[in-house]
Amino acid sequence: MLLTHLSLTHFRNYAALELDLPSGMTLLQGENAQGKTNLLEAVYFLATSRSVHAQQEREVVDWGADAEPIPYSRVAGTIHAGMDVQRPLELEILLTPRGDGVNFKKQVRINGVNKRAMDLVGQLRAVLFLPEDIVLVTGSPGERRRYLDIALCQIDRTYCRTLSAYQKIVTQRNSLLKQLREEGAAPQASSTSARLDFWDEKLIGHGSAVIARRHNFITELCVVAARRQQELSDSREALLLQYAPSFNPGSMAERVYGRIKEGEFVAADEIAPTLEAVQVAALYQAHLRRRRERELAAGNTLYGPHRDDMRLFANERDLRAFGSRGQQRTAALALKLAEMQVMTKATGSAPVLLLDDVMSELDARRRATLLQALNHAEQVILTTTDWEDFTPEFRRQAQCFTVLRGSVTPVNNG
Ligand SMILES: Nc1ncnc2c1ncn2[C@@H]1O[C@H](COP(=O)(O)OP(=O)(O)OP(=O)(O)O)[C@@H](O)[C@H]1O
Ligand SMILES: [Mg+2]
Repeated sequence: MLLTHLSLTHFRNYAALELDLPSGMTLLQGENAQGKTNLLEAVYFLATSRSVHAQQEREVVDWGADAEPIPYSRVAGTIHAGMDVQRPLELEILLTPRGDGVNFKKQVRINGVNKRAMDLVGQLRAVLFLPEDIVLVTGSPGERRRYLDIALCQIDRTYCRTLSAYQKIVTQRNSLLKQLREEGAAPQASSTSARLDFWDEKLIGHGSAVIARRHNFITELCVVAARRQQELSDSREALLLQYAPSFNPGSMAERVYGRIKEGEFVAADEIAPTLEAVQVAALYQAHLRRRRERELAAGNTLYGPHRDDMRLFANERDLRAFGSRGQQRTAALALKLAEMQVMTKATGSAPVLLLDDVMSELDARRRATLLQALNHAEQVILTTTDWEDFTPEFRRQAQCFTVLRGSVTPVNNG
């Protein structure tokens, strides 16, 4: 997978950029606030159709775009992907104002043909590491679910569709549960069943597929991430990822699930490596039946992948509570590098790796190991404020650019 050209118009602080990108390493150097992160964000936007930081899409539109008759923002790229690497694919996202003067409309085109945003995902696959990705370890369960979903959506189109259907069902089921609560519906009454069973069945169908996929992905990710953490920490840290679903989906004994719910460390061999959706579905259904009263009282869907978490342990201790900052950062990085590898295996081509200011906060050893690990990648774009963070050999190998106030210039740097 290669991104050979990036074209930006009014994207953040880039009024206009046309940039050819090589395979292998690209190193972008610039002082603070010049547009390094913005450039990586643009590539990631093209890969996922979502912006990284922005709460609203209009935030990525260049403030300077107001001078245009119609303010807009455009990100486009040429990629060479899949079996047919000779034939490039043109991807494009255009943001234009909606009539309300506040929000923007997102238009997606592939080779000039209008497509849904969902069709864009998975075309250019990218893995992005940002300094704030430490929240993967320290943040709320929602951050980890987001991480899993973005990774899985890029690998697996069916997952993406199933997840989106599941999320809609949760919303609808929630409003029904709320309504039933207000009516004081009896959990055992056949009239309650008549109205809930339909939504339960849909919830179980889609939810079980999401759970099984996440479980299997975490198992796979864990093996690779542990290896990366071991390398990065000079064998001092044994990393373990643990899926913590809202009910036992059948991958472990009930007593083991009890320990997971308590946040305790559970060795990987106490949990089945793979799960099938049908297996999950039977248990999901039984669980919902048993907990119907509780859900009716809450007026809310309490069980399912929207309540999942993933725990990270280093040497059997929860990294969120006990990890040092460097350990947490290393674990977040190990996760991203593992994601790259799992994605490569699943799709047959390596994603573009985007590493923002990755050297800061890593000690010399971890830096050296990281640069070694990058040899597996096909295309890497890294940013730094300081050339000295990278060895002269690395800089000679890489294509180097400086970023200054939204323009990018090649430099000779050995
Ligand atoms: N929508 C926008 N329009 C124009 N400029 C923007 C927009 N959003 C952000 N900026 C500006 O873009 C500039 C560059 O931001 P960016 O985060 O890319 O810097 P950076 O080079 O990564 O810096 P650092 O080294 O501090 O991380 C900032 O000054 C920011 O205020
Ligand atoms: Mg930055």
